[in-house]
Amino acid sequence: MNQNLTDLSLDLLKSLKKTSDFQKIEELIEKIHLSKSQIQKAIKELKSFGYQIDQTKEKGIRLTFIPDRLFPFEITGNLKTKFLGKKIYYYGKIGSTNELGYRLAQTKVEEGTLIITEEQTKGKGRMGRSWYSPPYLGIWMSLILRPDISPSKAPALSLCAGLALALSIKKLTGLDAKIKWPNDCLINKKKVGGILLELQAELDRINFVILGLGVNINQTQKDFPKKIKKTATSLKIELKKNVKRVLLLKLFLENFEKIYSSFKEDGLTFLKKRIKDLSVVLGENIELSFGRKKIKGKALDIDDDGSLLVESKGKKIKVFAGEVTLLR
Ligand code: BTN
Repeated sequence: MNQNLTDLSLDLLKSLKKTSDFQKIEELIEKIHLSKSQIQKAIKELKSFGYQIDQTKEKGIRLTFIPDRLFPFEITGNLKTKFLGKKIYYYGKIGSTNELGYRLAQTKVEEGTLIITEEQTKGKGRMGRSWYSPPYLGIWMSLILRPDISPSKAPALSLCAGLALALSIKKLTGLDAKIKWPNDCLINKKKVGGILLELQAELDRINFVILGLGVNINQTQKDFPKKIKKTATSLKIELKKNVKRVLLLKLFLENFEKIYSSFKEDGLTFLKKRIKDLSVVLGENIELSFGRKKIKGKALDIDDDGSLLVESKGKKIKVFAGEVTLLR
């Protein structure tokens, strides 16, 4: 299916969204300078995208249903960002948004380009795992970033994205979303979102970062594969009602743009306190795994570069990456 509406349909959609009342066709003709047949054509196209429109001879037309799809024109309408999501690649189904993002970033696409899909068939998680990405139930997206920072600073971007996600979830749903160092977002101790950073860099400079984000939104318990049923959750499970994905996505882009800009200017200086306040690992006994190596210790602090400070066997160590398990 073509994923973009014609300008005529976009104009009509904008007008229809302004009110829940019927609008007379004659008035719409005046307002948006379309002919009667163009309006009928636009109605047909909007319906083919899943919008529902009531139409009567006497009263005119009104919009009665907006489909839960991540159409670019739904994302950009009223989006308050300067550079994130200004260019969007949208798909019904692709292998992995990170894979495509990586390929696109090697061409001249600009910073802030968003790749988003309704479904991934080869969604990638960290540590070579797969990421379950069923159709229409979550946000599966990647952003192309070109920060002028040293590669050693890039891991902290995971915490920045985690902060933006937790704040966005809180604002939209009121749920108590937390950050689990280095790249997870949790609600009630279960994983609702994950971040996968991939970068292409030289020793001292980054060419680009692909920031991949997966958020479980409208899955029910039975939608999750057996392997992750006990550890994963969705906003719908926690809130007991459906959540409009496009609203969370817009909030995330807006919050992340501010946080990312602050990070590029001042590192974690103005972000660290907020990250620490939302962190579930600080003060906890944890097990850290890196590859086959495992250590146990107590998570003490998050450092200015985003690393985790851990006390293990009487020594303080700085950890830059790995998988944390909370020990109870
Ligand atoms: C993790 O917690 O292991 C990270 C998961 C990241 C998943 C997202 S979904 C969109 C983007 N494309 C991918 O293939 N993976 C990331």
